[in-house]
Amino acid sequence: MESDDTQLMLTVGMLTLTLAMGGCHVNPVKTAPTASSAANTVSYPSIDAGLGEHLYPDEKPIADELSVVLEESIRKQYSAGSARRDAHPKAHGCVKAEVSILDTLPAALSKGMFIPGTRYQAWIRFSNGSGDPTRADIKRDARGMAIKVLGVPGKKLLEDESAATTQDFIMINHPVFFATDPARYRSFLQDGNSDHFYRKLRIPFDLGAKGTLIALETRNSRISNPLQTRYWSMVPYQLGTGSERQAVKYSARACSSAADPIPKHPAHDYLRDALRNTLQNGDACMEFLVQPRTSDSMNVEDSRIEWTETQAPFYKVATIRIPSQAFDSPQQNAFCENLSFTPWHALPEHKPLGVTNRLRKVIYDRISRVRHEMNDAKRQEP
Ligand code: HEM
Repeated sequence: MESDDTQLMLTVGMLTLTLAMGGCHVNPVKTAPTASSAANTVSYPSIDAGLGEHLYPDEKPIADELSVVLEESIRKQYSAGSARRDAHPKAHGCVKAEVSILDTLPAALSKGMFIPGTRYQAWIRFSNGSGDPTRADIKRDARGMAIKVLGVPGKKLLEDESAATTQDFIMINHPVFFATDPARYRSFLQDGNSDHFYRKLRIPFDLGAKGTLIALETRNSRISNPLQTRYWSMVPYQLGTGSERQAVKYSARACSSAADPIPKHPAHDYLRDALRNTLQNGDACMEFLVQPRTSDSMNVEDSRIEWTETQAPFYKVATIRIPSQAFDSPQQNAFCENLSFTPWHALPEHKPLGVTNRLRKVIYDRISRVRHEMNDAKRQEP
């Protein structure tokens, strides 16, 4: 078996090339970060030691620094009126969906919006992960599925959107995330943003062998249809409150295992075509799964550690029906662009856990504000 160091050296060149092509939140930034009118307004989350959370040194200042760096990146990459998301800027479409919670669920899972027998309307945005919105779908990439459930009553966690009636679930088609230590994530961004090639060579050392391999694996997928792909939350969430609360991860997958082949001569945006063709011909069905944590070895802070299905099974909690529809009118695409997804659009019963999620509270809020401000677009939950 190869040692970690040998594996690391093997991946240096490949990762440098991959990251140099964009994505993984690495876009060229040529100027020093400056503060903006979209400066961070949200509070930094508190931790729940009872569920295995602990703070890393300087998390909050690092979250602020990361948001400034990503904001500068967007301001450099896009002009006013055409700003896009820093990550996952290319959507295959936003589709209407219906999320039906199963009629019977064990009490331990019947928490928050998982009320047995309840049916919700939702929007789902399917995306590619790369920071380049013009990239062809056939190129290897991470794929995203962001669900915004509508009509969910109850006070939400984001201070200035506490009255929103939305609950978001954000997933990627890989079970683990490549970074966990905030200081190392900052070095990774700084090195990736540097103009000097030799600094990019440091990226695998910023991420370590394990993080580097996960980054490569995450960005390595080709899919035939966003509706036939499996997605994971990668990072954990609370389920329930008080003494009954537990940590869980989420996943979503198609109801059937049928899979289209990848086209032999794929169009530039063939994943949008696949979504359109499937939904022209009928409804699509996906299922939403929850994986409760069953042991301390299922780490809550370290996003790189997979919670395997041998350790703990996933349980189906809801069916997602995506009715036959036409979804790619210019109006619907504009609506889709202007949506903001964040793990923190959530009830306290679904509170995001772990350092990656804590950083995301500050960063997603900031980046969403920046792009809406640049586009002079109204920022509001549906
Ligand atoms: C510290 C780590 C992370 C950072 C800094 C980060 C940053 C971002 C940012 C800035 C956006 C755009 C937000 C907006 O403009 O509204 C975004 C979108 C997204 N992120 Fe992350 N992210 C991180 C971790 C993750 C993880 C762990 C996942 C796993 C599920 C994830 C999945 C996504 C997806 C799917 C989107 C697109 C959501 C949509 O359709 O609007 N990210 N991320």
